[in-house]
Amino acid sequence: MILKLIQLENFRSFKKREFKFSFKTCFLLGPNTAGKTNVLEAIYLLASGKSFRASQDTEMIKYESEFSRVKGKIEKDELEIILTRGEINGKRTNKKLYKINNTPKRLPDFLGSLRAVLFKPEDINLVLGSPSIRRDYLNLILEQLDWQYRTCLSAYNKGLRQRNKVLSKIREGEAKESQLTFWNQLLIKNGQIINQTREIMIIFYNKQFKDTEIIYDKSPITLQRLEKYKQAELALGMTLVGPHRDDFKFLKHKANGRKDLSLYGSRGEQRLAVLYLKLAELKFVIQKTNQKPILLLDDIFSELDKKNRKLVIKIINDYQTIITNTGEEIDKDIKKEIKDSLFIKLNIDN
Ligand SMILES: Nc1ncnc2c1ncn2[C@@H]1O[C@H](COP(=O)(O)OP(=O)(O)O)[C@@H](O)[C@H]1O
Ligand SMILES: [Mg+2]
Repeated sequence: MILKLIQLENFRSFKKREFKFSFKTCFLLGPNTAGKTNVLEAIYLLASGKSFRASQDTEMIKYESEFSRVKGKIEKDELEIILTRGEINGKRTNKKLYKINNTPKRLPDFLGSLRAVLFKPEDINLVLGSPSIRRDYLNLILEQLDWQYRTCLSAYNKGLRQRNKVLSKIREGEAKESQLTFWNQLLIKNGQIINQTREIMIIFYNKQFKDTEIIYDKSPITLQRLEKYKQAELALGMTLVGPHRDDFKFLKHKANGRKDLSLYGSRGEQRLAVLYLKLAELKFVIQKTNQKPILLLDDIFSELDKKNRKLVIKIINDYQTIITNTGEEIDKDIKKEIKDSLFIKLNIDN
């Protein structure tokens, strides 16, 4: 699977722009705000159906435009996503449309033509940030690879909102406890699948790691646990157990025991843990799909020390890779090690 080209129309800062890639490593070079990350975002959108940084799809539509279009050519197929604000020329439209070779597709049929693994500096927050960042990570990966996971997660999240409403109403004396039964069953059924799928992924990841380990801090959801937390849940109007409370942490094996990297790791060790996580993700995608994903590396070289750069470069040569880098040039040591590369320069007034 090779991404040959992408075309952007009213996407973020780009009015109209085409980028041709080749199997070689491609460098997108340019100053800050030139739009480098925007290009990776567009590619990732074609792979995953969503942005890795926008909370709303409309953020990706160029200011003052009514729609945005991203097209990508992969071997014979042309993928296309159109985003709108819900209206074009005063007429109501779908907010998101997926097409393959000009034929509209449902999301499950659209996903899978392009696979991408993204590595960005903010990924350090997978070690340092809040649990919700780590849950979002698990969801983003699993939703792309496992349709059952996606439907369970969607049902679970809707059920969770409803159950919380019922809890609040019971507290206010406006609902009966028996009204929880339906939502309990729905959350247990979907929540257990979410927990299991995450667990399998983490076990796979751990097989790829050497001296670092991911510990899945699972919040299982069962009738017994719901019963146990019932009084607290009623008092708070909030569901306290289940995958929406899951977390994971990185432990490093040291001579004097295992250490939590978020608390005791050096910045270098934390970055290395994230790098290993990304490598595990790469392997996981290959195992699940039998396809080689393209690698998207967003400004990561400045963050890595020499040894880790070497590790990344070795991998780059095996995949179609698109790398952004701030500035006009990339370091000589990187240039020397990467076999063939293509350079695309971006300016601020794209
Ligand atoms: N919806 C949008 N419409 C127009 N411009 C946008 C939109 N969203 C972001 N931008 C612009 O895109 C630029 C950031 O692009 P980015 O890809 O993050 O740059 P970098 O090259 O530093 O990675 C900023 O100048 C920002 O104003
Ligand atoms: Mg950027």
